[in-house]
Amino acid sequence: MKTVAIISQKGGVGKTTAAIEIGFAAHQACFVTAIVDLDPQGTAANWGGRRKAEGPSVIGSHASRLGVILETVRQSGTDIAIIDTPPSADAVAMQAAKLSDFVMIPTRPGGFDLEAIQSTLEMVELLTKPAAVLVNAIPTNRLHLGITTLAGLWQRGIAAAPFVWMERAAFADLGADGKPALERDPQGKASQEVTRLFSWLCEQVGLASSSIEDARQQSSKMSQAALKVQLAALALAEYAGEGQLAELGPGFHREDRNRRYADDAQAPCARTRTSMCGEKIHLFEKSAKFGIA
Ligand SMILES: Nc1ncnc2c1ncn2[C@@H]1O[C@H](COP(=O)(O)OP(=O)(O)OP(=O)(O)O)[C@@H](O)[C@H]1O
Ligand SMILES: [Mg+2]
Repeated sequence: MKTVAIISQKGGVGKTTAAIEIGFAAHQACFVTAIVDLDPQGTAANWGGRRKAEGPSVIGSHASRLGVILETVRQSGTDIAIIDTPPSADAVAMQAAKLSDFVMIPTRPGGFDLEAIQSTLEMVELLTKPAAVLVNAIPTNRLHLGITTLAGLWQRGIAAAPFVWMERAAFADLGADGKPALERDPQGKASQEVTRLFSWLCEQVGLASSSIEDARQQSSKMSQAALKVQLAALALAEYAGEGQLAELGPGFHREDRNRRYADDAQAPCARTRTSMCGEKIHLFEKSAKFGIA
């Protein structure tokens, strides 16, 4: 069983949204999936309790029982457990990170939000846990915010998921009617963003199946807005003259905190890098094509 903790000290950055959307994507990809809700607010647990349609199992738990709960779901044949946490970088977040294989740190774009992830980053560094920031809820009319956020993260050597999530009605509506994006509109942009991120996450934790391959093919077209952010951030990094950033790519830590791929071509971000910015000119051609440069 693989365990992914979703942690951020700041509230309202999309922890619960990510836990449910990723959990539902895992369920749809035929993984036996459990969401463990450590937040006393119980948002994810209430979502699971209200749900009539099929979906991942959702369990509310106190952090002190997390080890027991994870062992129980593991023994019952769960493939992936996703832990939703309250907004904190305290003992609850620490316990979740400790018992996980990977930590996802959602943040909204922008300076204040980035400041707030510092304590979470320090915590995962202390625990030497593989982790990545998820840049979430980038307003579609303010792409520059996503671009500067990603560029800022890479310049600080912080691992970031190579697939951002834009601000989408489909994500916001999860709270209204309980339908994850993949259930509401499987072909929609939010669904594509969820599937891309989930496929990438599977690679990070070493979960793979033919279902993922199917999912990847279905979502081979990243939404244009998200793609613009990725490309422009890469272009920005190149312009800034940060030669080593071209060597890094999203999803990699400068000090190799996270997993490295023996073969660069296998790395999702390396593939992105090679296909989108193998050469500067190539990158800028692409940027121009999508109206960035
Ligand atoms: N990508 C997105 N697009 C649109 N709305 C979003 C997106 N991500 C999150 N939201 C909305 O932002 C609000 C906060 O999200 P969520 O509850 O997932 O955050 P959280 O980090 O779990 O908050 P808390 O710390 O209080 O538990 C919700 O109303 C959610 O619908
Ligand atoms: Mg929450």
